[in-house]
Amino acid sequence: MKSSIFRTTLIAAAALAMSGAAFAQAGAKLKVGLMLPYTGTFASLGNAIENGFRLYVTEQGGKLAGREVEFVKVDDESDPSKATDNVNKLVKRDNVDVLIGTVHSGVAMAMAKVAKETGTILIVPNAGADAVTGAMCAPNIFRSSFSNWQPGYAMGEVMAKKGIKKVATITWKYAAGDESVRGFKEAFEKGGGTVVKELNLPFPNVEFQALLTDIAATKPDAVFTFFAGGGAVKFVKDYAAAGLKKTIPLYGSGFLTDGTLDAQGADADGLLTALHYADGMEIPKDKSFRLAYAKTYKLQPDVYAVQGYDAAQILGIGLKAVGGDTSKKAEFAHAVEAAKIDSPRGTFSLSKAHNPVQDIYLRQVVGKENKLIGIASKALNDPGRGCKM
Ligand code: BEZ
Repeated sequence: MKSSIFRTTLIAAAALAMSGAAFAQAGAKLKVGLMLPYTGTFASLGNAIENGFRLYVTEQGGKLAGREVEFVKVDDESDPSKATDNVNKLVKRDNVDVLIGTVHSGVAMAMAKVAKETGTILIVPNAGADAVTGAMCAPNIFRSSFSNWQPGYAMGEVMAKKGIKKVATITWKYAAGDESVRGFKEAFEKGGGTVVKELNLPFPNVEFQALLTDIAATKPDAVFTFFAGGGAVKFVKDYAAAGLKKTIPLYGSGFLTDGTLDAQGADADGLLTALHYADGMEIPKDKSFRLAYAKTYKLQPDVYAVQGYDAAQILGIGLKAVGGDTSKKAEFAHAVEAAKIDSPRGTFSLSKAHNPVQDIYLRQVVGKENKLIGIASKALNDPGRGCKM
């Protein structure tokens, strides 16, 4: 009798100790580490992501899975050389429960490395670095945005189908530029086209003049480009000012004209781009999202705001499944893997490597809008090259 009481007490004590982490987490605030650019050429992208993320949390009453959300922020300046220190500040100094970030592919790869080493849940709300859901993939790493390959590949298919034969590419020399062009080239050359010249300049330089002169001399049938944020604004304006817009059609992944149209004005008119979001989609979830976003921030949302909102949705789905306990990594991942995410862009799910499988839209700039004109590539799944999961 005595020994059975002793055994029961031991079991109860062990159970209590085992659930200690969950117990400690249940009542505690959820510390969300936001690592985003708040300065530099991608500052407006970082702000839009944070706005979108906060909007979803606010819609849930400020709590996810019963835990009040607390933010800890770091400005990563889109600087890969500071990235490891910055992410370690959030993980080791601030003890965040989850990491949300970032915009720049090079910075995101440093975040993914730390997340992989420490097991911290990471949700990437923009950066398209193919490796994050490729060779670096991990059960605790998710992306709510796209891979760099996706919009590039979709635009390659569109331009080949149009019968365009010779294209020059121009972009920043870093992972996002290189991989967008690689995705474009893969589809475009498969469709019978040729990339006759690949031009680039270091990130975040915007001295385009010599490269524009090169394009004029090369006389391709069209140009494909990846630029985003402040750099995209300047590129579109410089392309038009050089007189090229009238003679050599400019195409891009949709970051070229997303969140930038106010500043680009008429110089962007008519441009065709491919992206996983567009204006005029007639999706009920998009309508309610736009209304709520405009009411809250007195601004129209862009693709970055959508990705921030969906990062929060993904976090909410995973947390709900584990009752708010971020130590239950496998259950968190299973729930997210099984989910259909009700996004303003249209419903999507995650691939085995945790990258969105999604429609890539063809859009055309009309006034201040990236008007939906068709689907460039239906349910496009990044190949997840090198991912072993
Ligand atoms: C990137 O670095 O992955 C990126 C930055 C801005 C827009 C899209 C992609």
